[in-house]
Amino acid sequence: MDARDRLIFALDVDSAEEAEGLVRLLSPAVGVFKVGLELFTAEGPTVLAAVRRAGARAIFLDLKLHDIPATMRAAAKAASAHGADLLTCHCDQTGIFEGLDLGRTRLLGVTVLTSLGPEDLAAMGYLGELADPRALVLKRARLALAAGCAGVVCSGAEAAAVRAALGPEALVVCPGIRPDFGASADDQKRIVTPQMAMAAGASHIVVGRPIRKAQDPVKAAAAVVEGIRVGLAGPA
Ligand code: C5P
Repeated sequence: MDARDRLIFALDVDSAEEAEGLVRLLSPAVGVFKVGLELFTAEGPTVLAAVRRAGARAIFLDLKLHDIPATMRAAAKAASAHGADLLTCHCDQTGIFEGLDLGRTRLLGVTVLTSLGPEDLAAMGYLGELADPRALVLKRARLALAAGCAGVVCSGAEAAAVRAALGPEALVVCPGIRPDFGASADDQKRIVTPQMAMAAGASHIVVGRPIRKAQDPVKAAAAVVEGIRVGLAGPA
């Protein structure tokens, strides 16, 4: 797989026009474009075809589905029909997606959002060992695979433990990436660099603001891809 196919750019904008402009600008450097809640809610599912027409080779639909199994299965089918290559969901039970044919769409289980730290987990009621993000991530990662996911979303700080637990085939997708060219953490708490995430065993990284808000987004994306290459070559 080419290094740029491991970079997922988050289209966190509220119009198809803006998203299409970003895809046209960045598609030479970025393999996967992520349609998240903001863009999907603003524009509806037709935005996937628009993003594809603008040049996206693959689409990650980040809807973070969370509902009873029958509803999750039906929504996953609909997302698949709209052409999502990757789709996120929260998995609370084993077997949610058992026997479901989603064609080329692969499911990713959200473990613990990268904006959450130990104090947030404690406030949510996770006590003792599970207030440690890594312990909860590992528990939820195993549950995601048992639910029928091809992989998980976690922070780069947990990527090595998740890779060791899930084996070489699982997708390990890491947001909360902050390249070392001075980007701010924004609302993210568990952050690592592209190099660190890849060296720890991530299969893909998700990057939004550090590229979108850079003075030169194309240059920033190229720097991230270089970070991916360096990380794949050895430990950070
Ligand atoms: O701008 P930034 O690089 O922080 O964007 C990260 C993207 O990854 C956002 O679109 C966010 O929704 C997504 N994401 C995340 N943490 C997760 C899952 C997805 O930050 N656990």
